[in-house]
This record gives sequence, C-alpha cells and structure tokens, in this order.
Amino acid sequence: MSAQASIDLDGLGIDAGGHLLIQRGLRDLPVGGRLTVAGRDPALRTHLAAWARSQGHQVDLGGVQPVVVKGSASTARWNRAERAGGPGPDGIAARADVRWGLAARGALIEEGGPPLNVDLIDRDLVWAEAARQLYANGLTRQWNPDTQVEWNAEFELPAEIEDAVVQVMTYLIENENAALQIPAKFIARLHPHYREVMQVLAIQVADEARHVEVFTRRALLRSNELGVSGAGGRASLQTLIDEPDFSLAAFLLSVMGEGSFLELLSFIAIHAPDPVTRQVASLALRDERRHVAFGQAHLKYSVEADRSMLGRLRAAAEHRYDTLASTAGLNQDVFDSLIILAAHSWTPDAITNGWEAVQQLQYEMDQARQRRLVQLGFPADEAAEVSALHTRNFM
Ligand SMILES: [Fe+2]
Ligand SMILES: [Fe+2]
Repeated sequence: MSAQASIDLDGLGIDAGGHLLIQRGLRDLPVGGRLTVAGRDPALRTHLAAWARSQGHQVDLGGVQPVVVKGSASTARWNRAERAGGPGPDGIAARADVRWGLAARGALIEEGGPPLNVDLIDRDLVWAEAARQLYANGLTRQWNPDTQVEWNAEFELPAEIEDAVVQVMTYLIENENAALQIPAKFIARLHPHYREVMQVLAIQVADEARHVEVFTRRALLRSNELGVSGAGGRASLQTLIDEPDFSLAAFLLSVMGEGSFLELLSFIAIHAPDPVTRQVASLALRDERRHVAFGQAHLKYSVEADRSMLGRLRAAAEHRYDTLASTAGLNQDVFDSLIILAAHSWTPDAITNGWEAVQQLQYEMDQARQRRLVQLGFPADEAAEVSALHTRNFM
C-alpha cells in the first residue's frame, strides 16, 4: 500500500492558487504516493489533470474524487542541484562556477541554466577582505552635488585664472572618464558570486560619474567652452583601459594613478582660487581615498597570497613606461594651468610661488607612491624606482 494523503480545496480552483495546496500536499509523499483532492470547483478534474501532467505527476480520475500520483520529475529536478556557496563571508568559493549564473550566492542552483560569460571567477584574483567595509562606507558617504556644492557662491576671478581652472577641470574630466570605464568593464567580467567586490566597483563607478558631473559644472560655471585635451594624456589613460588583468589594472589605476590624484585633488583644494573649485576637489578627494584603499587592499591580499606578484607589478609599471616613452605625458597646458591656479595672479612672485607649489606637488606624489609601494611589500629602493616610472600624466 503506497502512502496516501488528502486535501480539500473547498471552492478554490487549480487556476486560482489551488496548485499551491496540492504541491504542499505532495511535498512529504514519496514518489508514487497518492494525494486525493476534494473540491467544489466545476473545472477541478480537467484543470487538475492538465496541471499534474505539466508537473510530471499522474492523475487517477477513476474514483469519486481525483487522485494525484506523485511523479519523480519534481524531485529529480532538484536531485542534482547544488548550492552556490553560502550567503555569508564563510560561503565564498575559491572558484565560482559559471554554471551558477546570476544566482544569488547561497542559492540552490537547478541544473541546466545558461552559463555566465565571465572570466573573473577566482576569488584570489579579485578579492580584498576590506571590500565589505569599503562598500558600506561608500554608500553612507555618497553626496549630492546640488546641495553639497555652493554653486552660487560669490567670487571674482581674473579671466586668465578662470581659464586655468577650466583647463584643470577639462583635464580632470578625461581622467574621471577613464576611472569610470575601467571598473565598469571589470564589473561585466566579474562573477557576481564575489558580491562585495562587485558592489565596491559599482559604487566606484557611481562616484566617478559624480566627479565627471561636478568638474563639468565647475568648468561651465563662468565659461561656455572647455579647455584642451592633449594626445599624450589620452594615450596615458588608454594604457589603463587596455590593461586586461584585474590586479594589474587595480595597481596602475588605483594605487599609482588615483593614488597620485589624492595629492593632486588636495593641491587643488588647498590652492583653489574660488570656493566652488575648492569644494568639488575636496568632495572628489573623499571618494578617491576609498578607491585607492580598495586597490591597495586587493594588492596586499594578492602579494600575501603570492610574492611573485611584486615582480608582475613592477613589470606592468615598466611596460607602461615603455609604451608611453614617446608621448608627451602631461599636457603642458595642464601643467601651466596648475601653476596659474596656485599663483592666483600674474606677478613674478606669484608665479614663482605657483611653480614651487607644483614642484612640491610632484615631490609629494612621488613620496606617497613610494609609501604605498613599500606597504605592498616593495623594498624602499625598488619602490623609488617603480614610482619614478609613473606617467607624467599623474593618472
Ligand atoms: Fe574620480
Ligand atoms: Fe576614483
């Protein structure tokens, strides 16, 4: 005698949710178990027969009340299902299976879905323990350009000082465009199993979108035209975009490039000739610290997992240096604009001050890069050599 059970659907039709009660009634029955279904819906027998067939069950309509005989398909469907790791930090797989697709980490994965077309599937190639915290910080520290910047602040600038600001903004925008595209590109190649990394990169993309916005708004605040974009600067950025390796891109973009931008944005904030320029630079600086922190945390993790990574990082810096050897690096107009921005006026003394401030800026960028390289595990002399290879474009 096979296992039996019965349910009463009362007036509920199969097509109005009755199938849920039948599924529940079948759940604890073995394959071959019989579920008698009572009910008053006139279409009960026909709907039940159709539903049962679609679910791989049989139906016995010979008696007073129809009986569903449980088939094997509904259990077979999940027999070979596997868990895509676990939802928490301890459920992160060393290698994520592309067959898990877009499923949530920790979901029970039915066989047969389309595989995900991603190649960043190894935890150690993308991971940083700090990712969760950096995502949380990034979310709570989002800012609204409309309210956080006093766009209507009153100030008067000589036309040529304003032009210098516009030129610096023009330069910043193209760098922000690169800083947006690079994480966006890696998101599309990353297995979403590494949710925390995906979330960090997504916030980073949103941050860069906002930086593009505020630098554009500052540039257009008093001017209808933007400045110039040098081919050498764009060539420098293109080498970042072209780097296919996640860790090497994080090194070149975040540790070296955005790292240098921390000094640059501080410089602009300190020397800004007007409050709007000061505010947009300070706000962007806040976000950039997080971007650098993630790159640095990922590379520390990578180097600790495999010391040979240091050699690869050095080789990537050398390769980029060689690629850019024949280009101008930083556009002279940008360099000059930074001097003028810091000088605030055209007296020889002011220009001397501006020029010295830009020399000091480059020295500080170099020192900070060296500190970060030493933190990653480079000996001091090698850190100095690798830092010196960094692009004159700063990013
Ligand atoms: Fe940025
Ligand atoms: Fe950034």
